[in-house]
Amino acid sequence: MPSAQVSAGVPDEIADSLVSRFHDTVGREPVGCFVAPGRVNLIGEHLDYNDGKCLPMALPHATYAALAPRDDDRVNLTSLQEEEPWQGRLGALGPGHAEGWAAYVAGVAWALQEDGLDIPGLDIVVDSRVPVGAGLSSSAALECSVAVGLCALIGLELDHDLRRRLVSACMRAEREVAGAPTGGMDQTIALLAEREHALLLDCRDWSTEQVPWDPSAHGLELLVIDTRAQHSHSDGGYESRRNDCEEAARSLGVDTLREVDDTSAALESLSDTRIRRRARHVFTEMARVEAAVDLLRRSEYESLGQVFTSSHASLRDDFEVSCPELDLAVDTATEEGALGARMTGGGFGGSAIALVPGDRLDTVGEAIVQAYRSRGWEEPGLLPANPGDGARRLR
Ligand code: GLA
Repeated sequence: MPSAQVSAGVPDEIADSLVSRFHDTVGREPVGCFVAPGRVNLIGEHLDYNDGKCLPMALPHATYAALAPRDDDRVNLTSLQEEEPWQGRLGALGPGHAEGWAAYVAGVAWALQEDGLDIPGLDIVVDSRVPVGAGLSSSAALECSVAVGLCALIGLELDHDLRRRLVSACMRAEREVAGAPTGGMDQTIALLAEREHALLLDCRDWSTEQVPWDPSAHGLELLVIDTRAQHSHSDGGYESRRNDCEEAARSLGVDTLREVDDTSAALESLSDTRIRRRARHVFTEMARVEAAVDLLRRSEYESLGQVFTSSHASLRDDFEVSCPELDLAVDTATEEGALGARMTGGGFGGSAIALVPGDRLDTVGEAIVQAYRSRGWEEPGLLPANPGDGARRLR
C-alpha cells in the first residue's frame, strides 16, 4: 500500500496513551476511556432525511474520549488534535455557547441534560484517528465517544435502549448546537455497529438489521479514499439538497419522497428540472439499496460493485454533490480493476469507496495517488477498511 495510507492505530495503545495524556493535562486519572468509530456508507446516499434506507458500516478509525467528573460546574475540553482547549460551565453548553469541535462535545452534554440526565462538571480529553473533513463522520465519532463516556460516569448501563437514546441526543447536539442539519445515519452506525457487519437502517421508523459484510473473507478489500478536498455540512450545499427534496415532496403532495409509489409518474409530474433530478436520484438510489442488500446477502460482489458505480453516477449527475477529486478517485479505481466505486457521505469533497480484489489493492491505491499527483493535487489518504465495532468502553 502506498505511503498515503492512513492508519487506524491499535485501540488499546491509543487508549493507554490517552489515559496518560489525560493525567498530564488534568492532573488525575480519568474514570474511563471510551471509543466510537467513523463510518462509510456502502449505499443509500442522501436518503436518511428522505425517510429511505442506508447501509453504513463502522470504520476501524475511531475517536477516543477520556473523562472524569468534577466537583464544580466547570466543563473543560481538550482535543489532542486542536491547539486551544475549551472551557465552559454546565449551565451554558447549549446553542450559541461553543463553536467548532467543542460544539460537538458540549452539545452532547447539553442534549443529555435536556434529556433529563444529571450531568456533572467535566474534564474531557479526546484523541481521534478519523480524518476531519473527510466525510467519514469524525463529528458523530466525537459525539458518540463522549456520549457513552458521560453515561458511564453517571452509572447508566450501555444497553440497546440507551444506545438508541444516545443516537437522538447526538443528533440533537449536531443539529442544534453544531448547526449541521444531518440526517441521523452517522450517529446510528457509530452507536449500533457490529464488527464484520453493515447496518441496514430504515430511516422511516429507525428499524435496523445487521447484514453480514466481511469483504476480506471473500478476497476483497473496501478501500476508502480521502480526497482531502474540503467538505463541510454546515456551509449550505447539504442543506440546499435537503430543501430540494422537501420541495419535491411538497409538489408531489407527500411528507417525504419515501411515500411515493409510482416514481415514474411522480418524476413526469415535476416540472422543475433541478427538482426532478434530485427526486430521480432519491428514487433510483432507494432501488439500488434494495438491490445491493440482496446482492450482498448472495455474495454477488461483481454486481454489487456495478451498483456502487451507478450510485456514483446518480450522485454526480442528478444530485450534483460530487466533485472532480471524487470523480477521479472513482474513475481511476474502476479503470484499475475495482469491482465498483462511489463517493460516500454528504459529498462536495470528502471520501470515496472502492470494492477492490485483494490482489489489486496496491495497484488501485498507487494509481489513484499518481492520478492526483499528475494533476498537482494534494495526495489523497488511503484507508483499507474492515467493518469495525460500535461505540464502547475500552478502559
Ligand atoms: C452526511 C450526513 C448524513 C447523510 C449523508 C448523505 O454524512 O451526516 O446524515 O445525510 O451525508 O447520505
